[in-house]
Amino acid sequence: MSFDLVLFGGTGDLAWRKLMPALFQSFRHGTLPANGRIIGVARDDLSDDDYRALIGSRFDAVEGDKRPNVEEFKRFAELLHYQRVDLSKPQDFAALADTLLARDADSLVMYVATAPALFTQVVEQIAAAKLNGPKTRVVLEKPLGHDLASNRAINQAVGSVLAENQVFRIDHYLGKPSVQNLFAMRFGNALFEPVWRREYIANIQITIAEDLGVEKRGAFYDQTGALRDMVQNHALQLVCAIAMEPPINAHADAIRDEKLKVLRSLKRWNPETLGLHTVRGQYAAGTAYGARVPGYLEEPGVDPESRTETFVALRTEIENWRWAGVPFYIRTGKRLSSRDARIEVNFKPTPHAIYDTPQGSFNRLVINLQPKDGLELHLMAQGQGSRKRSGRAEQLAPVQADLDFDKRFGSERVGAYERLLLDVLDGRLNLFVRSDEQEAAWRWVEPILEYWKNESRPPRSYAAGTWGPSASSAMIARDGFYWSEEA
Ligand code: BG6
Repeated sequence: MSFDLVLFGGTGDLAWRKLMPALFQSFRHGTLPANGRIIGVARDDLSDDDYRALIGSRFDAVEGDKRPNVEEFKRFAELLHYQRVDLSKPQDFAALADTLLARDADSLVMYVATAPALFTQVVEQIAAAKLNGPKTRVVLEKPLGHDLASNRAINQAVGSVLAENQVFRIDHYLGKPSVQNLFAMRFGNALFEPVWRREYIANIQITIAEDLGVEKRGAFYDQTGALRDMVQNHALQLVCAIAMEPPINAHADAIRDEKLKVLRSLKRWNPETLGLHTVRGQYAAGTAYGARVPGYLEEPGVDPESRTETFVALRTEIENWRWAGVPFYIRTGKRLSSRDARIEVNFKPTPHAIYDTPQGSFNRLVINLQPKDGLELHLMAQGQGSRKRSGRAEQLAPVQADLDFDKRFGSERVGAYERLLLDVLDGRLNLFVRSDEQEAAWRWVEPILEYWKNESRPPRSYAAGTWGPSASSAMIARDGFYWSEEA
């Protein structure tokens, strides 16, 4: 199969940080179709060789086995080409069309890795240059809009020149091996399905914690905040993966139909729940990696008066037969205690106690997403320690069964972008987000954005290196539960 992959924003941050390394790894693993071209597109005046040298310098700082050797990079670089395109100039798109149509590859992928404000323009120019034929696939990176109206405007502009099955909206969390395994755990095994419901599950907690701050993205982040950056997309996709009904088959629309139902079943907000079930925080100076780090308001690019949230905790419910009444807690933030993403399924206690169990003991399934990738099943057992405890053999102790997917599958695993890029080349839409899913997610987060905009209280402060503001613990404690690190 031959392909042409056009990378709009070919000299930009995403191409540099994520896409080129992923394409290189795919090339190295032999999974990238051999007969292809990767055409970087940007405004700079570069030759193919300049572009190859530029991308080559990307790998200079890479250490260990991810670093290409000279020979290997030379072979990879043969795939790289460059074309200068000013996104506002139809004649530049016409020239790009000449380059592409002359070769007429089996598949044509347009990866729009530009600033989001340019998405509509790029897609319209692609269509005007008649590059939107049936072989074309367009990849759009998040964020697609900053609210429901802007998201719809982009989706409508895209939808007027491309069919839905030509549009690949990336949520890179769906490409993570750990998230694939979540689907596999639920729909490739019969074990959990009977207990995966309100009768057995007390609550579900989703944590996506980052220890990094806003790094060099202060100006972007200050306009965005954690709700738009992480909850509207990544966290809600995890909610879908946990809560969706088994799809009728593994086809993209069967999966996306079920995810959409979850998004549409999320409990609607009202003034009371907005007040009680949403917490926003902003990090103050504190400690990360053993060193002092500045607070959010001191970060470059951030307005010193900013009220942008760097932490969010929410409580919601899914109003359907399976989940009615089960609280789903979501929290995510920057500069938290560690990099740690996990989903915890907390089961109800035994209906009748014949053992003397420590308080708060219940079964728990932890799906570790990162940095560890695997499952932990927390059970109660009669451990060796029980005799020591003055002969009270009836007393149980918590034990843990651990499944480490990194250890089990090790080097066979591919990174999120590598996986997603190969899926685009294959035309597989399973791991991409449909426009109606995105709109449903925006519809749900919008009342929170509105509420915070009008709230007189600023975000609650938390010290860098902690688990966020204490209001997050208070929110969950009101239901009689606690975050697992507080156990
Ligand atoms: C991105 C956000 O979508 O996801 C970033 O814009 C965030 O702010 C990143 O850091 C987290 O991704 P990962 O894969 O490192 O968990």
